[in-house]
Amino acid sequence: MTSAPTSTILGEALPRLAVLPRAGLLGAATPVQAFAGLAQVYVKRDDLTAADYGGNKIRKLDFLLGDAQRDGCRSVLAFGYAGSNFVAATAWHARKLGLATLAGLLPQCPAAYVVGNLSVSLHCGAELFVRGGTATLAATAAARSLRRLLREGQAPRWIPPGGSNALGALGFVEAAFELRRQIEAGELPLPRSLYVPFSSMGTVAGLVTGLALAGLPTQVIAVQVVGATLAGRARLGRLLADLAVLLRRHGVAVPEAETLLARVVIRTEFYGGEYACRTDAGAAAIARFTAALGARADSAYTGKALACLYADAATRTLAAPALYWHTFSATALPPGVPLARASAAPAALRHHWTLERAGLHGLPLLCPH
Ligand SMILES: Cc1ncc(COP(=O)(O)O)c(C=O)c1O
Repeated sequence: MTSAPTSTILGEALPRLAVLPRAGLLGAATPVQAFAGLAQVYVKRDDLTAADYGGNKIRKLDFLLGDAQRDGCRSVLAFGYAGSNFVAATAWHARKLGLATLAGLLPQCPAAYVVGNLSVSLHCGAELFVRGGTATLAATAAARSLRRLLREGQAPRWIPPGGSNALGALGFVEAAFELRRQIEAGELPLPRSLYVPFSSMGTVAGLVTGLALAGLPTQVIAVQVVGATLAGRARLGRLLADLAVLLRRHGVAVPEAETLLARVVIRTEFYGGEYACRTDAGAAAIARFTAALGARADSAYTGKALACLYADAATRTLAAPALYWHTFSATALPPGVPLARASAAPAALRHHWTLERAGLHGLPLLCPH
């Protein structure tokens, strides 16, 4: 097993990036294991990026919160859907660093993890506000920022949705180098394909760039889990270009976005038409994965990526050896965090508690759109 702390790997591979501040959230390299039940498939356990509350977001937050700390920020402002993993992860890890969190949330389909994630954010004292669309959300975020500025002399640091700007995506450039070490150490063969959910795109952008820089010719299968206006080839190209600018500023030669895009296959057929909506294939994949590996999976992201992986394995279209990158936190609630009461949540979100109690989350008819 590779035991170097993840946060030293990027600086060792690309020394000029060692100057970038880090928040110190990451533990050792996340384990790779055989994917029980699927021959020649492996799992990268990014559910274990941090012992208290992991998942893919921690790699991005290590850079984003490190940057905010360096700049003397006292608060950060994050965005997401109601039960956002990213908002919960931000609130939890920012609080450990002494930073307050504000978060602008959009409505979403009921899902099993929503109440838990909101409980994390509420426990951390996050200031949550909910609006029905992105324009009103941004306007409210601006107003709340101004209020903080007037009250405390400093506005919060805005973090893009999902932590997916160039700086956040660097976390997954590093992840690719971490993977290379594990391949070199014989923990897995060089994967021909890598399956991962595709939402705010920072994970895919960082991985595809990092794989190229690390000399790994692996194809990335990006499984769409949000609408095409939020994630798609053109937007991914822009994020890749931003990331290339950041890397080149630090003396790293990066292939053009078009070259990197050629390594990505976007798969839309497992999306189901609505963010976080339940799909039969997703539900079956979660049940199968959980039984086989004993790890948690969710209906919004990992269930759909797993559905794609299982479908390709069944139709013998999977390019093996394959790697499934598991992105959902292994821990539902960090240590000491209780489930919150509905009354602690903004009124627009309290129905999630009612549905949770009735076991009705995951019904497509209950989606707000
Ligand atoms: C569990 C989980 N998996 C995958 C993703 C997708 O990553 P990205 O937003 O970088 O595309 C997210 C976040 O959106 C997530 O919370």
